[in-house]
Amino acid sequence: MMKKIGILTSGGDSPGMNACIRAVVRTAIYHDIEVIGFIRGYEGLIDNTFVKLNRESVSGIIQKGGTILKTARSERFRTEVGVQKAVQTVKENKLDGMIVIGGDGSFKGAIALSRHAGIPIIGCAGTIDNDLAGTDFTIGYDTAINTVIEALDKIRDTAESHDRVFVVEVMGRDAGLIALRSAIASGAEAVLVPELNHDLENLVIKMKNWRSTKSSKIIVVAEGDQSGGAFKVAEIIKKECPEFDLRVSVLGHIQRGGNPSCMERVNASIVGFNSVKGLIDGKKNVMVGIINKEISFTPLENAIKHHDTLNKELEELIQILSS
Ligand code: F6P
Repeated sequence: MMKKIGILTSGGDSPGMNACIRAVVRTAIYHDIEVIGFIRGYEGLIDNTFVKLNRESVSGIIQKGGTILKTARSERFRTEVGVQKAVQTVKENKLDGMIVIGGDGSFKGAIALSRHAGIPIIGCAGTIDNDLAGTDFTIGYDTAINTVIEALDKIRDTAESHDRVFVVEVMGRDAGLIALRSAIASGAEAVLVPELNHDLENLVIKMKNWRSTKSSKIIVVAEGDQSGGAFKVAEIIKKECPEFDLRVSVLGHIQRGGNPSCMERVNASIVGFNSVKGLIDGKKNVMVGIINKEISFTPLENAIKHHDTLNKELEELIQILSS
């Protein structure tokens, strides 16, 4: 019987987290379940800092980026003492279940918490990286890739005007999905991602022979690529092709902010709604996802094993379309 639940956002924030919080709170209230929101993720759980959430507390937030509950990458929660304090908070507040919105690190935390506190936990995939198994899109990814292509379009304008080569670094510590999708959508000439081994020598040869009529060239690099990031790639190219007028642009945290897209708001609402329904239905330690428009529940341990999510065909597509 669910009478009272907790919710937190953890890890890197992502646009759409607020829409998800709103859906969780309003669905819970509809089912007479009390909700408290912990501040700064697992940090709030350790310190027992929370706010009571009602219909009004989540009013006017669906369109806002970031997270009203704030977030953190909690080092303390990685310790035995931290987990024990969090368990105490769960008990003191008499929580029957928890909803955790975050990425793989947050779900690892959720698994530990559930094991020690003995309550069911439902995860909502919230990360711009889209690097979780069990869902087509994580909350934040659609908005982030749209932010990236807007930036790439602008870079293309200036690159064309100066006949320049740009190496653009996008987020993705160990996932290249932001890089790959945005490279396709912006007509980039090449993309480097952590999941694939790239031969930089080949890239340089290709660059020397580029036949495209565009006077500008854009290479998108995921921050976690083995090459070492945009500045390293630029250094290698500059050495081999000193004739190129080359610039580097690191997009950074603008990718994490901004108003969520329509798709993001709708998906985040669906996921939040189903996370509460999942708890009511007795589900535990699973992540709510959407696969081919269907709701799916994936065990948290499986959701964090994400490394097969990159569609390698898309890289070939870039090579052919940009040549
Ligand atoms: O996990 C999402 C993400 O934006 C990654 O793409 C990036 O590597 C990381 O977070 C940056 O985290 P922080 O803001 O803590 O430096």
